[in-house]
Amino acid sequence: MTNWRDIDLKAKQWVSEAGEIIRQSFKTTLTISTKSNPNDLVTNMDKDIETFFIKKINETFPDHKVLGEEGQGDQIDSTEGVIWIIDPIDGTMNFVHQQRNFAISVGVYGDGVGQIGLIYDIVHDELYHAFKGKGAFMNDLKLPMLEEVELSEAVIGLNATWVMENHRIDHKLLTPLVKAVRGTRSYGSAALEFAYVASGRIDAYLTMRLSPWDFAAGLVILDEVGAGTSTVEGESIHILSPSSVLVGRKNIHTKILKNYLNV
Ligand code: IPD
Ligand code: CA
Ligand code: CA
Ligand code: CA
Repeated sequence: MTNWRDIDLKAKQWVSEAGEIIRQSFKTTLTISTKSNPNDLVTNMDKDIETFFIKKINETFPDHKVLGEEGQGDQIDSTEGVIWIIDPIDGTMNFVHQQRNFAISVGVYGDGVGQIGLIYDIVHDELYHAFKGKGAFMNDLKLPMLEEVELSEAVIGLNATWVMENHRIDHKLLTPLVKAVRGTRSYGSAALEFAYVASGRIDAYLTMRLSPWDFAAGLVILDEVGAGTSTVEGESIHILSPSSVLVGRKNIHTKILKNYLNV
């Protein structure tokens, strides 16, 4: 039997330790390189933090698997067993340019079902966390279930990329949505945008392409506050595949799908 409580304790301890390593790195000079394009940054810290988690997990739970953005974990092609899905630094561009607005994101799944979600905003010392069936928290504060708001009073997370011509969505679909809501925000960290939806700081978040490590933790947390979560086609998100994502208060999620994305 998998002891999820024990896994949760260890996950929280390692996230806190990893946060301290990142905090200390502010005093050092980062090694910055690019990945798929000149705006796709990666630093020595992204890799070191992923290595830190993999080492801890392998030592403590040798039968668990790890999927991490920097690719040092396992080759995973099935949801079977316990899988840790880790983004060592979500919001690397912010980490490099601002030294804030980034987070560690850790989701732990059992046979494809999200059991633990941790998103740690290191600079603000805000740990968003959830344990399946036990609610979601920001540090010690229990997050209330999300209530309805009017779309005209909603603030939504949306990157300017998707409102310009792009090859993933007809950007003209989004213009009426931008006009209908109270405001849009773009934080540059998907994990934080999930955490902000969960804590009511924004009312929805919409993006055309994320990877499992971007949403694994966020989905567990959002489930616990009764958020609507799907792809922009209204389908359920597959935990091991890249995906578009629409999350938000249930009524806002439904309204965006029906009235703006024509689902
Ligand atoms: C990125 C951030 C960003 C999102 C990108 C992600 P990274 O993650 O979450 O907000 O728009 O799609 O790739 O590379 O900084 O971990
Ligand atoms: Ca990255
Ligand atoms: Ca990420
Ligand atoms: Ca990352």
